[in-house]
Amino acid sequence: MDVHSYARPDHVGIRHLDLDLRIDFDRKILEGTAAIQLDRLQGDELILDTRGLEIRVVEGASSWELGEANPILGAPLRIRLGQGIEQVTVHYSTTPGASGLQWLEPAMTAGKRHPFLFTQSQAIHARSWIPLQDTPGVRVTFAARVTVPAPLRAVMGAVESDGVFRMEHPIPSYLISLAAGDIARREIGPRSAVYSEPGLLDAAAYEFADTESMIQAVEGLYGPYRWGRYDILVLPPSFPFGGMENPCLTFATPTVLAGDRSLVSLVAHELAHSWSGNLVTNATWSDFWLNEGFTVYVERRVLEKVYGRRRADMEAVLGRGQLEEEFARLPENDTVLHIDLKGRDPDDGCTLVPYEKGALMLLTIEEAVGRERFDRFLRAYFDRFAFQSITTAQFEAYLKATLPNPVALDAWIHSPGVPDGAVRPHSDAFAHLEWPAAEWSTHEWLRFLREQREPDMERLDREFRLSESRNSEILHQWLLMSVQQGYTPGMEKVEGFLSSVGRRKFLKPLYTELMKRNPERAKAIYAKARAGYHPIAQGTIDGIVKR
Ligand code: BES
Ligand code: ZN
Repeated sequence: MDVHSYARPDHVGIRHLDLDLRIDFDRKILEGTAAIQLDRLQGDELILDTRGLEIRVVEGASSWELGEANPILGAPLRIRLGQGIEQVTVHYSTTPGASGLQWLEPAMTAGKRHPFLFTQSQAIHARSWIPLQDTPGVRVTFAARVTVPAPLRAVMGAVESDGVFRMEHPIPSYLISLAAGDIARREIGPRSAVYSEPGLLDAAAYEFADTESMIQAVEGLYGPYRWGRYDILVLPPSFPFGGMENPCLTFATPTVLAGDRSLVSLVAHELAHSWSGNLVTNATWSDFWLNEGFTVYVERRVLEKVYGRRRADMEAVLGRGQLEEEFARLPENDTVLHIDLKGRDPDDGCTLVPYEKGALMLLTIEEAVGRERFDRFLRAYFDRFAFQSITTAQFEAYLKATLPNPVALDAWIHSPGVPDGAVRPHSDAFAHLEWPAAEWSTHEWLRFLREQREPDMERLDREFRLSESRNSEILHQWLLMSVQQGYTPGMEKVEGFLSSVGRRKFLKPLYTELMKRNPERAKAIYAKARAGYHPIAQGTIDGIVKR
């Protein structure tokens, strides 16, 4: 059972949704119906998850009742069913503060002329825009009609035909997605297109030109891409994540449009989720490392195939360094892979641990059994559990049955930190980074900057204009150091950065460091910038900047 859902799919489950939604930009709500096909196993009660939804009526129910709201989980919608009832239709609308929706005023878009809306359902925000069983252990197919005011366009992570979006593979609720705005489209490969506001389309098409090579790289390793199209939607800068692996349509931050394809590991990552995550899915948020650890491992295999070993090694070393920093910040209990989240927000488990410790464990297994054998294992794993949601225990049993005794599994999964015997990622490229050179890659820069103990901020800025960097990762690293070192020219750029970007990975460290050294400044910046952040990012930063 999933502690983050009220649903009892073992009594009455859901198997298919027919959505009919109108987007109302003026009132900042979605309004319409969800017709839900049921899987009746026992009893006469269907329980759905909701958060902040206004329920008008439940057609087909004998009676229904919206329970009391819990701050983390929202409110259960309890529906009594007559005998033989296999479908109910919920008539509802969302509310303007919905945690899974961000409504952007025209000023917050690139074009400045039209509003924009996008969803972010992972981890438990689908319930704020659709009444459903919001647990990754339940999978549904869906069909959706979306009405959007002209001249705007709606897109969904699904396949569109005749104005209906269809998802014919059963997927978990956290992968249901929708966006609407002034969205243009350009083909970039035989099964891929980029979508973005018109002004960003050229940059997006250039940045993501290697997408088809990446798809073929994963197919060569782990079998066919099963979702038909792989498109990428570039969102406005307030998108709170780097990327989100919505099936058929990855959502991406515009901060990866560096102009030199140096940050496209994000595409490799979200694409890899088409196997690890979307095909084989974590059954609960305690099993999140099954999604992210496997994905980071696959991501680096893709980078190796498409860009070479040197690039993949650099990413692995950077990841290992970031994991060490994360360990230093986290309580021990949160450094295990299978994390206890009872009574907590699943967001608390979204640290670098499931990503980097998970990937490191798989790399260590790969080294122990040999690449060829491990590749065969992974391919069989994706086939064996395709379109299923599995727990950590199921993975452990499968591994033990098919690859006898490869590593100290128990220590990796259930003990804190990194066990002895872990592989040490190494990069020759990082061996001699004494002083920057003009031709340095983004990765060499990041490594160099992160290794500096007493950086000569003035000289670095004078010679390399870091305060003006157009690479979001380098700029972020530089601004973070500027706050830490009290370097004024960098500090002056921090406010502009925090007011124009809503990616949580960038906001969190900057606000944390600002609060340590200059809390008044942090509060002043946040007071102005907060309205532009996504509700999910607001929630995180509210916990850091105490107003
Ligand atoms: N699925 C995650 C994003 C996510 C995780 C959203 C948990 C909500 C809750 C996505 O695949 C991801 O990991 N994105 C990373 C980028 C990636 C390159 C590591 C991110 O957004 O930083
Ligand atoms: Zn991911």
